[in-house]
Amino acid sequence: MKILFLGDVMGRAGRTAVAERLPALRRDWGLDFVVVNGENATSGMGLSGAHAKALLEAGADCITLGDHAFDQRDMLQFIEREKRILRPLNFAKDAPGRGAAVFTATGGRKILVAQVLGQIFMKRPFADPFSDIDALLRAHPRGGMVAASLVDMHCEATSEKMAMGHFCDGRASVVVGTHTHVPTADAQILPKGTGFQSDAGMCGDYNSVIGMEKAEPMRRFVTGMPKGRFTPALEEATVSGLYVETDDRTGETTRIEMVRQGGRLAQAGP
Ligand SMILES: [Fe+2]
Ligand SMILES: [Fe+2]
Repeated sequence: MKILFLGDVMGRAGRTAVAERLPALRRDWGLDFVVVNGENATSGMGLSGAHAKALLEAGADCITLGDHAFDQRDMLQFIEREKRILRPLNFAKDAPGRGAAVFTATGGRKILVAQVLGQIFMKRPFADPFSDIDALLRAHPRGGMVAASLVDMHCEATSEKMAMGHFCDGRASVVVGTHTHVPTADAQILPKGTGFQSDAGMCGDYNSVIGMEKAEPMRRFVTGMPKGRFTPALEEATVSGLYVETDDRTGETTRIEMVRQGGRLAQAGP
């Protein structure tokens, strides 16, 4: 199965780049399933129903969220209606929506997608992501009822992301990190066949501080005094993420390539 994962879509620049590029990538790369992290698509803060629809229309088969899942209040209801959107499994006991689901890719093949939040340096103490993922992967063995499985590990620390990658090695097809908005150059196939990258990077304008107009974050770093609000940077975005090919019989990743298309970053792709 040919799977594309795109990291956090950041504001209008990110939405525009995904809308302009994803249909061609789907066609040119013969993609079977596309997962897009949408947690910052609406002004950098969450995802509105309208912007979720736009990402789905652009070619996302599944949208994952993150710690910003419900920053846009309409997502509280929208996620109950639109089953292609996932919030983190361990977001909160009473959170609406789901944190994992089995989807159908091309040719009727099944793919499990899940998202969890890490615990290190996050703004709230979230429940243990490892036990949640352990139970989920035991219930959905790779290469069994599901041809492939993908875990979006949404957290700050690369150490926690790498630990999750190894925890899932041999059990999930892909573990990919999100949330830091900067791609890491460590895409690899782990020893037991799990494709892994610590962070997919964002789909956003990289002439910025993690996707935000740089003046205000720089002022806060330099002077310690806020003056204005954070707003997403609006120059051309780089569509960033991960391309993998998996074996339908075993669920192993057989090929992995980093993706960076358009915008300022050095370009990459399969
Ligand atoms: Fe994010
Ligand atoms: Fe996040």
